[in-house]
Parts: sequence; C-alpha cells; structure tokens
Amino acid sequence: MSTNKLEGKVAIVTGGASGIGEATARLFAKQGVRGVVIADVQDELGKNLSASIGSDRSTYIHCDVSDETQVKSLVDQTVAKYGHLDIMFSNAGIASKGEQTVVDMDLNEFEKLFSINVRGTVLCLKYAARSMIEKKVKGNIICTASVLGRRGVPRRTDYCMSKHAVVGLMKSATKQLGKYGIRVNAVSPFAVATPLMCNVHDKGAEEVEKMYESMSSLKDVVLKADDIADAVLFLASQESRFITGVDMAIDGGFDV
Ligand SMILES: NC(=O)c1ccc[n+]([C@@H]2O[C@H](COP(=O)([O-])OP(=O)(O)OC[C@H]3O[C@@H](n4cnc5c(N)ncnc54)[C@H](O)[C@@H]3O)[C@@H](O)[C@H]2O)c1
Repeated sequence: MSTNKLEGKVAIVTGGASGIGEATARLFAKQGVRGVVIADVQDELGKNLSASIGSDRSTYIHCDVSDETQVKSLVDQTVAKYGHLDIMFSNAGIASKGEQTVVDMDLNEFEKLFSINVRGTVLCLKYAARSMIEKKVKGNIICTASVLGRRGVPRRTDYCMSKHAVVGLMKSATKQLGKYGIRVNAVSPFAVATPLMCNVHDKGAEEVEKMYESMSSLKDVVLKADDIADAVLFLASQESRFITGVDMAIDGGFDV
C-alpha cells in the first residue's frame, strides 16, 4: 500500500482520544499529514496519544463537541496553528445507557445523547465548512454514522435516531457544499469492541467480539477500529475524489 496519501494535509479528529478516532488519528499521522488535531474531552488520553504520535505532527485540544464556543475555537486554533483545515472527521459520539425503547424513553438521556451525536456533528460541520469556504480549501468532511442509522432497532432508539440524523445532515451538506469542492461522506460501522461498545454491554473486548462474530456475512473476520480508519482514509484522500454523499457501510454485509 502506498503511503503519504495525506501529504501536507491538516485534519481534525473529534472523539480522537479513543477507539475509532484514535485509530484514525494514528493512521492519518502515518499518511503524512502536516498536523492532526485530536479533539476530545478525555484530556489525559488525548494528550498521551498526541505525544505518542509526536508533537511535530499532532496536537491535542480539549473540545466538548456539544459546545458551540468550543467547536468554533477548535477550528480557529487549528487554522491559527497550521494555516487552514483540509479534513474534518466528525466522529465523537456516545451510546444510550438504558434500553431507551419508545415506551420508556428517558428524555434527559435522549437530550444528552442528541447534544453530542447530533448537535455536536452539526457544529463540527458548520465550523469546518465555514473555514474551508473562507480559505478556499476543497476539503473533506467525514462523519461517523452507524449501521443503526439505516434500520429500526429493538432498543437504544435515541442512538438509532441520532445516527439517522447524522446521515441526513451528511446528505444535505453534500448538496450544499459541493459547489465549493467540499466532499462530505459518512462511515457506518458495524460493531467494534471499543470502550463505547464494551460499556454498552458491560463486557470486555473479547466477549463483545464473540457476541457479534456470527452476525456479519463474513466468516472469521472480526471488525477492528483500524478497518474503519482505513475507510476514513480512503474518503479523506484523493483516491475518492468523485465520491461525495456516500454513507459507507463497513459491516461485512450485515445490512444487505
Ligand atoms: N464501536 C462501535 O461498534 C460503533 C459502531 C457504529 C458507530 N460507532 C460510532 O463511532 C464513533 C466513535 O466511537 P467509538 O466506538 O470509537 O467509541 P469510544 O468511546 O472509544 O470513542 C468515542 C470518543 O468520543 C469522545 N467523546 C464523547 N463525548 C464527547 C464530547 N461531548 N466531545 C468530544 N468528544 C467526546 C469520548 O471521550 C471518546 O474518546 C461514535 O460516533 C460511535 O457512535 C461506533
């Protein structure tokens, strides 16, 4: 595989301290970015990750994506440090704590989840797109949706709804930003045994992987955070230069 697919690019990865975001930040750094900004609320993890990537090409910035001032500042700080923004990977998200079925929905939990998964994604797209338009950057925006953004679910209705909203936002942004040369896509992973998933099931990574192993159409292949990072890299690079508005399932044929 050729390297340096992102030579000289400047990227932000939200939810970058853990799981899919961490894998993507590491991969971006290996692919020649000038700077990858890890944005998260887990400061220690984020700072350690940035240090392990190397302070020459990585920065950690505390950012709660549900807070408009913080997201604006994240983009402003990135542009102040690196000159412009090429790639926004809007990936930060949380899962429902309880069952959250239609009949027992806890609206406080619903609102908290929406403030991060939906409002947070809106804010990241808003300020990334504004910056790209202002600086005339033909940038790339990638959102993390989910296989649950395409189908109904027996529980965790709020999470399912939030990911449908992310896909709707991505598609609308595609229509609105294409005239500036900005591409907008989503990745929709199947189950990956990240801390988010392990917390949902209150199980360790191996157990979570076992739970899901027979559910995709692929035999003996376990989905890892690195697989999602590879798809994000493809969407962020020139290899996908005519691809926009796509919600790419990385689900081993689960949703077919
Ligand atoms: N793991 C899966 O099976 C799976 C499947 C489909 C979609 N996803 C989505 O992938 C994305 C990444 O999740 P993950 O599985 O890597 O989980 P993770 O918990 O490992 O990573 C999520 C990161 O988001 C950060 N975060 C949470 N709230 C935040 C906020 N308000 N502001 C900034 N950062 C915040 C967390 O601190 C964490 O570092 C999420 O959007 C999730 O919904 C995950």
